[in-house]
Amino acid sequence: MQILDGRKTSNDLKEEIALEVLSIKKAGNKTPHLAAIIVGNDGASQTYVASKVKACKRVGFQSTLVELPENITEKKLLQEIDILNNNNAIDGFIVQLPLPKHINEQKVLMLVNPDKDVDGFHPTNVGRMVLDLPCFLPATPFGILELLERYNIKTSGKNVVVLGRSHIVGRPMSILMSQKRNAGNATVTVCHSRTKNLKEFTLSADIIIAAIGIPEFLKANMVKEGVVVIDVGITRVDDATKKKGYRLAGDVDYVHVSKKAAFITPVPGGVGPMTIAMLLKNTLLAFQRKN
Ligand code: GUN
Repeated sequence: MQILDGRKTSNDLKEEIALEVLSIKKAGNKTPHLAAIIVGNDGASQTYVASKVKACKRVGFQSTLVELPENITEKKLLQEIDILNNNNAIDGFIVQLPLPKHINEQKVLMLVNPDKDVDGFHPTNVGRMVLDLPCFLPATPFGILELLERYNIKTSGKNVVVLGRSHIVGRPMSILMSQKRNAGNATVTVCHSRTKNLKEFTLSADIIIAAIGIPEFLKANMVKEGVVVIDVGITRVDDATKKKGYRLAGDVDYVHVSKKAAFITPVPGGVGPMTIAMLLKNTLLAFQRKN
């Protein structure tokens, strides 16, 4: 079994991006600039956004964090997005999800200028992705493709099972893996909460991408020997033995599944760091497309 080391791969990527930033600066240009909007005080979201800001510093990007209160009105949030859309100094920005219940997420994401939509959530970017046109790929699927490519994992003609159909991970992942591309050309099955006989699908899978948000859902008796497992789950599970009172659990029963797997991503240290690196990559792309 080989671990797909997202931490190392994302560090490699960040070094590559940092070198690009150096040459951009040397040429006398301004540096790429990413902004993030966060609404409310959700602990996990705060941690993710702080990691994104830290990663910007590491590669030499400028970053701006827009922190807004939980009770902000939808109208005010839309105004904040308009400000970032019209700020020429900002190359790309994200609105951290989830948003409070009183805010219409769709309306918010629709307002983001597609040219600055480095999360790839705007319908224009989703449509362009489906049609194989230049776009911003959503960072988590983009990171998984990059990980598969950098570890030379063959996907052409393989049976891929995607667990989950979310707009952020499962849906785009299933589309990308079926397309004509490196880390593509696969036969893809999307399984979800209404799938019957799930185990029949997972047992025949060469590659499983688990993105359902149920801790340790995928068990060893659900996978075949030599499977490649990508674990997107990252749920906080109460654990009194930890200083913080919780531990992070993936969607995969790692201890047992790893014994049968050829390749597997750990949690933490697998897909998570890749997501951040690809957000930086998208920001660099936004900068390059603009200039
Ligand atoms: N919440 C969970 N994942 C993501 C992501 O990739 N982008 C944003 N904006 N919010 C998220």
